[in-house]
Amino acid sequence: MRSFAFFAGIAIAQAASAPTSSEDASAYSYWQPGGPGDFRGPCPMMNTLANHYFLPHDGKNLTREVVTKALQDALHFEPSLTEIMFEQALPANPLPNATWFDLNQLNVHAVLEHDASLSRSDAYFGNNHVFNQTVFDESKKYWIDDPITADQLTNSKVARQLQSRAGNPTYNFSSTVDNFSRGEILAPIVAFGDKVAATTNRTFTVHFFENEHLPIHLGWHRPTDPVTLEDVTKLSEILAKSQTLLTDSVSEQQGTQNTTHGETEEDTCGKKKMIRRGVGHFGIS
Ligand SMILES: *[C@@H]1O[C@H](CO)[C@@H](O)[C@H](O)[C@H]1NC(C)=O
Ligand SMILES: *[C@@H]1O[C@H](CO)[C@@H](O)[C@H](O)[C@H]1NC(C)=O
Ligand SMILES: *[C@@H]1O[C@H](CO)[C@@H](O)[C@H](O)[C@H]1NC(C)=O
Ligand SMILES: *[C@@H]1O[C@H](CO)[C@@H](O)[C@H](O)[C@H]1NC(C)=O
Ligand SMILES: *[C@@H]1O[C@H](CO)[C@@H](O)[C@H](O)[C@H]1NC(C)=O
Ligand SMILES: *[C@@H]1O[C@H](CO)[C@@H](O)[C@H](O)[C@H]1NC(C)=O
Ligand SMILES: *[C@@H]1O[C@H](CO)[C@@H](O)[C@H](O)[C@H]1NC(C)=O
Repeated sequence: MRSFAFFAGIAIAQAASAPTSSEDASAYSYWQPGGPGDFRGPCPMMNTLANHYFLPHDGKNLTREVVTKALQDALHFEPSLTEIMFEQALPANPLPNATWFDLNQLNVHAVLEHDASLSRSDAYFGNNHVFNQTVFDESKKYWIDDPITADQLTNSKVARQLQSRAGNPTYNFSSTVDNFSRGEILAPIVAFGDKVAATTNRTFTVHFFENEHLPIHLGWHRPTDPVTLEDVTKLSEILAKSQTLLTDSVSEQQGTQNTTHGETEEDTCGKKKMIRRGVGHFGIS
């Protein structure tokens, strides 16, 4: 709450002169949560970019051009990656042949919004799009290290699925949703972490979820390297493998010898050893 008041203070000071160009590095310092008449949705990153004026602050009429520019300026996403994300989001607009969407259109349950989110309650229990501290505390309790590892991100996802299936009689989690859901847990890695090690800074990540604010004041800056589709695909694969709770299946899937936690590679490839530790036993490529 203290941090909220702090940001609200910044917003009051600066909202009158909201940036016209988000290329300006100082654009990060503009921040104001959505007010009456502004649309926000279930996706913490889209909300955050709207709060920072990288996206239209009202959360409306998000076109391909607008979303591509926002993700590039704020997070260094390559346009080809945003293209795919935009295509996935567009069906949220129920109008035929729509070329834009509004953030609140993402709220419709079982279009993009899904059960067992890390920071939102299931639609069955009520509000499925506003940040829910109780839900997030459950996710966060699995993030025991700094940086948070890929396995720990996965643990929070799987724990939320289990919690949801145990308590929500309408629990619905298709393989498509699973794919999206992995995209959601890898977002903090590409935004706030180390995409090679598949880890993310815990302080930055928690701050982002809880405040829908980019953690500039904590020392975060825009990623130096562009985030590519290849990066996201690799991370999604790492996280998919991380979802099994069996300890022998990974080496079987990879057709390697019966080693535990990549001992062989540690012997022959000392340089990879430190990186591999962060990823668990899935390697970097
Ligand atoms: C902008 O979005 C509103 C709904 O939020 C819609 O009625 C309007 O047609 C859109 N405008 C354009 C130019 O797409
Ligand atoms: C949507 O696009 C399809 C294919 O281009 C077209 O046949 C259809 O008439 C369009 N619908 C509307 C409502 O514009
Ligand atoms: C589960 O959600 C999918 C969309 O993700 C939907 O097509 C399907 O009908 C839902 N199943 C049930 C049982 O509600
Ligand atoms: C937060 O989520 C929990 C668990 O789904 C729910 O019981 C609670 O009512 C939610 N809180 C709010 C403010 O929606
Ligand atoms: C994460 O960021 C915080 C805040 O800048 C910093 O104190 C911490 O050392 C960082 N953690 C790692 C693992 O770099
Ligand atoms: C997950 O989504 C990506 C991007 O749309 C797609 O390329 C990939 O085939 C999907 N994977 C699965 C297992 O559905
Ligand atoms: C794999 O290695 C472990 C530990 O050395 C051993 O106990 C186990 O029997 C081995 N499994 C297979 C399938 O060879």
